[in-house]
Parts: sequence; structure tokens; C-alpha cells
Amino acid sequence: MSIHYQNVRKVTTHVLQEMKIHEEKISMLTAYDYSMARILDNAGIDVILVGDSASNVMAGHESTLPITLEEMIYHAASVVRGVKRALVIVDLPFGTYQGNSKMALSSAIRIMKETGAHAIKMEGGEEVVESAVRILSAGIPVMGHLGLTPQSIHKFGTYVVRAKEEVEATKLVEDAHLLENAGCFGLVLEKIPAKLAAQVSESLKIPVIGIGAGSKVDGQVLVLHDMLGITQEFSPRFLRRYHNLFEEIKGAVKAYIQDVKTLEFPNEKEQY
Ligand code: KIV
Repeated sequence: MSIHYQNVRKVTTHVLQEMKIHEEKISMLTAYDYSMARILDNAGIDVILVGDSASNVMAGHESTLPITLEEMIYHAASVVRGVKRALVIVDLPFGTYQGNSKMALSSAIRIMKETGAHAIKMEGGEEVVESAVRILSAGIPVMGHLGLTPQSIHKFGTYVVRAKEEVEATKLVEDAHLLENAGCFGLVLEKIPAKLAAQVSESLKIPVIGIGAGSKVDGQVLVLHDMLGITQEFSPRFLRRYHNLFEEIKGAVKAYIQDVKTLEFPNEKEQY
């Protein structure tokens, strides 16, 4: 295990590339607001993803499809204000890039101009390569995302592990190489067999970040609200909960309610 890059003052896409070369694992978490982003950055996280999972955990939607470009820009700009060191990547939301590379470029430019983020991420392989190339030609770093791509949930019909069968696995490997050759600086692999993820990571030069893709990739990402135990109803095998914040916050709120009702709060010292 190597930990040499913890002291870099600013994480860039080049730093991530060097981390892969020197076999230092990349840590990545999602964030959607200033306060959480500040905590993550202070703790030394390498990458913050302003994921379209904001649609689920911030807005309460059932999927990532409803979130808009305006809403993603609001979240991303808030995150960027809280960050000094981490690389900030923003998801292009559903409907702002698929099938139209001109629209993809204009969505990516809005994100970069209006948020101050450092890169964008988009889901899909061959079908989004043209958009990726166009965005890259404007000097905007692009991260790919393959495997279980939540924006395609209605095509998949279920959130089960992807690419278990040979045809889908072969297509995923081809797509990964297409994205690398197009110039993407990194790739997220979501919920695929660990062996396949290891094979992709080994055959690509760019860093591969896994979520439910095993340990033999170049880094890991989790949704912040899941790993902190704020969400409760979501328990896939790959999710490690580092806290039970739902219960902790509930306990604090219950104590506050009790104090207000019983005139315990505010006390003599807590008033003017
Ligand atoms: O939106 C998101 O949070 C993501 C991660 C799950 C990779 O894309």
C-alpha cells in the first residue's frame, strides 16, 4: 500500500493518473452541499462527486432521472465553495447530453462556468463517445461511467449486478477502451463482477473507480448519505455503513424537543 499523495495541495486529473501509476488508491465520495463538502475536503478525500444521486438523497425522487441541470449547478456551486483540495466532478444529468453532442457540450460548459467544478461525468459507452469527444475538445475533463448506470434504470428494469453474461461483459470492456481512447481521464464502474472490474482496471491506463466492483480497481466511491447511514432503506452488499447518522440525528432532535417542551432549553446562560 502506498500513501504519497495525501499531502498534495490540489488534486488534479494528473494527480489521479500518477496515483494509478504508483498504485495509491483513490478515495471518492459524493457531496451535494457546502457544509458536507467542507468536512470531506478537511478529512482529505481525493475526489468529490456531485452525483445525480442528489435526485434520490437530496430531493427524495425514486430515480436519478428527474434532477435538472439547474439543480445540479446549484448543488455543484455549493460544493465548490467548500473545497480547497479535492477534485470536484459533476454528473451531467439525464436528458442533457444523450444523443446530442452539441447539447452535451453546452451542458458541460454551463457546469464549468457556473460552478467552478473541475470535470464532468457522463454515463454510457459507445453511444456517448461523440459527446465526450466534443466536450473534451473544449478542454473539459470527462469521466465515464459503465456497468449499472442509474440513468438507464428503465432500460435495465432492475438494479441487479450488470455484465455477468459474456455478451454484456465484452461490450463493457469495448466501451471502456473507447472512452479511454476518446480521452476520458477516468472511469466509474458500478455494480459489476469484481473479476471483470479488475480486468478492465488492469487493461486501462486511466484510473478506474469502483462502486460495487470489488477491490482490484484504482479507487472506491460511495454515496455519502449511504455510508453515513442517513439513508436506511438501501442496503446492497457493497455498501459499508461507517455510521448510523439517521439514529444519531433523530436522538439529538428528540432531546431538543424534550428540552423545549420542559423549558430545559434555553437556560440562564443561553439567553441575553
Ligand atoms: O450519482 C452518483 O452518486 C454516482 C455514483 C454512484 C458513482 O454516479
